[in-house]
Amino acid sequence: MAFPPSFIDELVARNPIEDVVGQYVNLKRSGANMFGLCPFHGEKTASFSVAPDKGIYYCFGCHKGGGVINFLMEVEGLSYPDAVRALAKRCGMTVPEDEQYQSRYRQQERLWALMREAGRFFNEQLYAPAGKECLEYVQRRGLTKGSVTRFGIGFAPNSWNALVDAMRKKGYTDQELRDADLVGEKNGRVYDRFRNRLMFPIIDVRGNVIGFGGRVLDDSKPKYLNSNETLIFNKRKNLFGMNLAKKTKYPYIILVEGNIDVVALHQFGFDNAVASLGTSLTEEQVTLLARYTEQVILTYDSDEAGQRAAQRAIPMLEKAGLQVKVLKMEGAKDPDEFLQKFGAEKFKLLLEGSANRVEYQLNAIAAKYDLRLDDQKVRFLHECADLISTLGSPVQREIYAGRVAEAAKISVDAMKMEIGRAWKRRQAQQKKKQEAIDLAPARALQPKSRTIHYENVKSAMAEECIIAQILREPALLDKTKALLPDMFSCELLGKVYGQLRQRHEAGMDVSIAVLTDLNGEEISHITAITQRQKELVSEEALADCVQTILAEHQSSSVTSEEDLRALQRKLKERKGLGV
Ligand code: GTP
Ligand code: MN
Repeated sequence: MAFPPSFIDELVARNPIEDVVGQYVNLKRSGANMFGLCPFHGEKTASFSVAPDKGIYYCFGCHKGGGVINFLMEVEGLSYPDAVRALAKRCGMTVPEDEQYQSRYRQQERLWALMREAGRFFNEQLYAPAGKECLEYVQRRGLTKGSVTRFGIGFAPNSWNALVDAMRKKGYTDQELRDADLVGEKNGRVYDRFRNRLMFPIIDVRGNVIGFGGRVLDDSKPKYLNSNETLIFNKRKNLFGMNLAKKTKYPYIILVEGNIDVVALHQFGFDNAVASLGTSLTEEQVTLLARYTEQVILTYDSDEAGQRAAQRAIPMLEKAGLQVKVLKMEGAKDPDEFLQKFGAEKFKLLLEGSANRVEYQLNAIAAKYDLRLDDQKVRFLHECADLISTLGSPVQREIYAGRVAEAAKISVDAMKMEIGRAWKRRQAQQKKKQEAIDLAPARALQPKSRTIHYENVKSAMAEECIIAQILREPALLDKTKALLPDMFSCELLGKVYGQLRQRHEAGMDVSIAVLTDLNGEEISHITAITQRQKELVSEEALADCVQTILAEHQSSSVTSEEDLRALQRKLKERKGLGV
């Protein structure tokens, strides 16, 4: 929905960006700006800046940026309207809601309430006569009553209508049961989707029950039946157990595969365990993890599938700036079995000894080759040298070179030479890449973003300049009257120009913070432009930019008309041939 611009103005004014950001980032003043560690990517030196006077933030490391509303969207994973609501609440303003938005929100609230009721129902059933067998299963798996309560674990009775009846009695409609994906449907009649299963509620970080995972009580297949996506449930964005793990005192989070593993770990005192929701790890889940921790210990099952999943997860986690360690278990297939067999103390030792990702990857390389065979040994050394040469620290390189040399029974010097060669090889590759970029200046001027592309780089550069200048000095909009939003070659820049111009003409605030209808990547791009062009240019330079855009716009419309005529001619010729 569109909020009234005057409302957004007041909202932005009453939520100073340094205060809002300050709740997430420890900011230190340096001149007019403030700096801190970026909450969006892992870093050790502060490249995240806030400019209170401009109402914006910008990270020189990951290039994210925007106003106070975008910050909250990004850091809390909220939609635009939800971020606006949160800020309104923060400063005690009432949000003018439209009917459609209100009804959608009401629908969400109904679903949250329904899911909570369903969870309560399943939990009660576990202790009812019908739940006897399931309760025995829970006990056999070694889960305590405390764990059952903490996770809200329950039992879905072996019935076609137990849940349906109970929820209808509470006033929920069949349509709401469908919307929550709690029922199947046949001949227009709904029936319980989860039957005779051990039920794990999936709870988001705000404490709402948003879905269920239901496990069979024996070895039948499929082992799990999980909720499909609904208005309130997005599998990609949530992790099982995160609602509890976010409060942990441990400086790391343990990422495992199974729901039962999470429950067992918490029961044994590791209240920092989470699992992805029956799919492989997603980018969104990595972002969620990075919001709460700096280090992740991967504890995937010891079978081949689990190890493959770990290999895939490592680079994803590292890309988000997380420190990754991998825990290797022996004598048990998963953490649950390990804990039940050997206890928490032994698991703690495993955690302390868990290999960092380099050791883990070296071990993984070693496992691929038979070092008794010379040709395999050579390939092993090549691969290890490649990996070690990527390490930034000479101490690390020295240590791992020594270990690999020892494993392959060659001299440390030979290994170091091999690493040196691998390093040079990569340098040469990078140089080539850089040259390719330098030789293609038009390409170098393209936005770094994957979704924003400049069709006409010449015009776009002028457009960038206009945007940067009017954001610095809104009065310049009086000098660009000849320029209309649809003359911009880049739709995004045209849109931003249009919004700013409208506001200026209405006598309202012109700043990045009040822009609407842009996604995170778009607002970051706009912020980056203003960061690149800090100096105010001369009026002549500005007039040049306007001229460039006008000229490019005219020439492009001329060519397209010519193209059109050429096309018409061709069509006529074809008709003449009777095609
Ligand atoms: P145990 O086998 O009792 O240790 O259960 P677990 O909860 O540890 O599950 P497991 O390690 O076998 O599987 C890991 C996760 O993958 C589960 O928690 C589910 O989220 C998911 N999963 C497992 N089996 C299925 C299945 O048949 N279908 C779907 N959709 N997901 C599954
Ligand atoms: Mn398991």
